[in-house]
Amino acid sequence: TTVEWEAASYDMGGHDTYMHKEIHEQADAVDRVLRGRIDDRFSTVHLGGLNLDAREARQIRRVKILGCGTSYHAGMIGAQMIEELARIPADAEPASEFRYRNAVVDPDTLYIAVSQSGETYDVLAAVQELKRKGARVLGVVNVVGSAIAREADGGVYVHAGPEVCVVSTKCFTNTTVAFALLALHLGRTRDLSVRDGKRIIEGLRKLPAQITEMLEQEEHIKKLAEQYAEARSMLFIGRVRGYPVAREASLKLKEVSYIHAEAYPASELKHGPLALIEPALPTVAIVPDDDLLEKNRAALEEIKARSGRILAVAHQHQEKADETIVVPKNEDELDPILMGIPLQLLAYHTALALGRDIDKPRNLAKSVTVE
Ligand code: AGP
Repeated sequence: TTVEWEAASYDMGGHDTYMHKEIHEQADAVDRVLRGRIDDRFSTVHLGGLNLDAREARQIRRVKILGCGTSYHAGMIGAQMIEELARIPADAEPASEFRYRNAVVDPDTLYIAVSQSGETYDVLAAVQELKRKGARVLGVVNVVGSAIAREADGGVYVHAGPEVCVVSTKCFTNTTVAFALLALHLGRTRDLSVRDGKRIIEGLRKLPAQITEMLEQEEHIKKLAEQYAEARSMLFIGRVRGYPVAREASLKLKEVSYIHAEAYPASELKHGPLALIEPALPTVAIVPDDDLLEKNRAALEEIKARSGRILAVAHQHQEKADETIVVPKNEDELDPILMGIPLQLLAYHTALALGRDIDKPRNLAKSVTVE
């Protein structure tokens, strides 16, 4: 069965496109994924559908996250959060690759399938194969009762609400928040301190207001997008926490504006992509104010020295960049959640300036339910 949203049945609420509407729904959506889950008394969260008790949670030796496209990128962020907060080795892989490589299925690994629709065939097939081999699979899914949600042993609903635009925005953000909740939960069954639990909870609670604050910069981002719409190609760079954000921003721009974009870890620049840098290739750099700030600034210098144009997405103004979008600072581990949002707006306004069919980009479907 395929769950399809009936696009016509949703009120546009004064927005011209679903993408714009959904970008602006993010503060409410994040509020929803948090609601009723925070337990201040024990500085943890309750995830009702997880189906994993504390003893089982302590026995997990690895976490493997599987998803496609935007959900895969959210999973990359999730893997980092799980490593940082729960200290469990974790990584993400495209489900579409995983299912074709006869991967070793390990009983001590927790597998997590990520999907907005819950119907993506590559993810579903990976889940079914894992189940056949006796693995424990959780779902981080948006659509309640969808195929992946039903197939999984338990999971966390993302509660982003219906997402109609083919290009995923609010579901990406909510999925990263759902992963933060899961990472906090796993962390608090293991070695994450009460103090750190509290710090993460405070960070999570700040998110809706910070999203609203971020969206207030739309006019500034629109002006930038109108300039960048002339580019034939763009480079997105980020390091560690910033890298999945760069990947997702690059996908967003490609999908909706049809401008070629590539994402690279900032640390890999000198191993090849520096050869591309010239004034006609703008770079969007993700520069969080964390322990890698100086390293990221050095990358900006490398690009500037080769006359590259730079748009920084950062927590403070970046001198080496031509422009900076300043994002509100949260806890280091949660920073990726907010840093993707201005880049959704950048992709949106670039596509608008180019007259693209924003809600239904060419050649794409909302959920890919076939092989
Ligand atoms: C997102 O903008 C894309 N349209 C696409 O990559 C999507 O995320 C992917 O097909 C996975 O879909 P799902 O989350 O419904 O499984």
